[in-house]
Amino acid sequence: MDKFLKIAIRAAKEAAKIQLEYMNKDLEIQTKASEFDLVTQADKLAEAKIIEVIAKEFSQHSFLAEESGEATHDSDYLWIIDPIDGTVNYAHRFPQFCCSIGLYFKGEPLLGVVYDPCRKEMFHSIKGHGAFLNNKKITVSTINTLTKALLATGFPALKDNLLQKNLEYFKAFLGKCQAIRRPGSAALDLCYVACGRIDGFWELGLSPWDTAAGALLVSEAGGVITNLDNDFFDCKIKGLIATNGLLHSQIKDVILLNG
Ligand code: IPD
Ligand code: CA
Ligand code: CA
Repeated sequence: MDKFLKIAIRAAKEAAKIQLEYMNKDLEIQTKASEFDLVTQADKLAEAKIIEVIAKEFSQHSFLAEESGEATHDSDYLWIIDPIDGTVNYAHRFPQFCCSIGLYFKGEPLLGVVYDPCRKEMFHSIKGHGAFLNNKKITVSTINTLTKALLATGFPALKDNLLQKNLEYFKAFLGKCQAIRRPGSAALDLCYVACGRIDGFWELGLSPWDTAAGALLVSEAGGVITNLDNDFFDCKIKGLIATNGLLHSQIKDVILLNG
């Protein structure tokens, strides 16, 4: 397990070097599924570097990465990678982005590493061993009423019915909670729930690479993460609610009532 963590951290730090280097260069910004869905050369280079670092040690493991897709081997281990989570922020030099590396074993989360290079904050978690920020144990907040809670959400790049739906949820939460933020990096939003900076987070259109690492941080920090309609979390299902546990049913109720 130590070796998995060591390599994941090494890969995240290598990705960070690329992210920071290209932030000061001319970024080549391309669009993907919509004009709001961006990719830069730094996303592609960082992803290639993460896979190179991991595959050098674990050549038989499988990979699922946002920009290059799946590379499957006959292995119980699957690395799920987002080379830059928060690419729109990154493209504007808005310092809220990270890389996210999750390791699954037989379909279950085993390890998560999320690194924010601007703040030099390394979040990590190993199943059954807790969640950590720069190697210090972290726990979720103890806020138990919505009126005292700081919430966060995100909106999908594809401006489809999920956007309208989430605007309804957003409106419903305004006035019920202390404030809502839209930081722009779902992986960091989950880590912020894990370390108590955010009391609850929900989003509708996420992918496995956004959540594979952060979801484990939330549960290992004592929080609760579920899909919108489940009592469990499956990273292949798009919608999620992640909270400190104390607020979970209150947040879920608002979402179900306005769904
Ligand atoms: C995005 C970020 C954002 C979330 C979007 C994601 P990307 O990931 O996590 O916060 O609202 O739904 O797609 O595209 O920057 O890797
Ligand atoms: Ca992402
Ligand atoms: Ca990304």
